[in-house]
Amino acid sequence: MAEKIPLSLGIIMDGNGRWAKKRLLPRSAGHEAGMRRILKLVEDVRARGVGYLTLYALSTENLSRPKEELEGLYSLFRKYFARYAPRLAESGAAVKVIGDISVLPGDVRGSIESVCSAAPERADFTVVFAVNYGSRAEIVRAAGLAAGRGSLTEGEFAKLLYTADVPDPDLIIRTGGELRLSNFLLWQSAYAELYFTDVLFPDFDGRCLDEALKEYSRRNRRFGRV
Ligand code: IPE
Ligand code: IPE
Ligand code: MG
Repeated sequence: MAEKIPLSLGIIMDGNGRWAKKRLLPRSAGHEAGMRRILKLVEDVRARGVGYLTLYALSTENLSRPKEELEGLYSLFRKYFARYAPRLAESGAAVKVIGDISVLPGDVRGSIESVCSAAPERADFTVVFAVNYGSRAEIVRAAGLAAGRGSLTEGEFAKLLYTADVPDPDLIIRTGGELRLSNFLLWQSAYAELYFTDVLFPDFDGRCLDEALKEYSRRNRRFGRV
């Protein structure tokens, strides 16, 4: 029997602002509810046997949001990544960060880095946080690294991306009702199944996840074949 390959899942965590607006709360309350949702979601995803979970937490374009919103987000990153670190370490999950966190304030970067695991290759479950991540920036960076190396195969080029050791997503879920990828894993999603839900990220629970996985199981992935 062929070995079962663990699923690689990407989640575009959108809709925090609208979640707050619906409750007449400031956008920051929506971001906090989203940060709280993450840990539960990681557990739910793992319990369903998924091997890789990539969470889109902040895009390169999000850095152009108003200063107050960004500062609020950075405070939440400080607080919540510090909380995630021991929980994720205890669970034995490997944790990785993709994106350019070098431009973030030092202490925020420190909290984000504190979740990264020392021996990721031994884990059966990997969580990838995409922070100040943008596919275009990632591809341009990889192209820079590729320059002067002669012609590369697709596989060799993929090794120059942030996601070198993360399998391409099988399924990308976007919460919040928008029907777009917003610069998330553009190269890697060439054959990903896409699932869009109106549910706002802070409300995306285990039941919503099950619906998405059920829909995925009904898809017929042909990869260009017949
Ligand atoms: C997603 O929620 C979180 C980030 C992009 C940081 P939004 O902040 O985009 O929420 P909406 O789309 O305005 O509701
Ligand atoms: C996508 O959400 C980025 C993240 C979820 C981190 P946005 O709210 O930034 O996307 P757009 O602006 O609606 O495309
Ligand atoms: Mg949004």
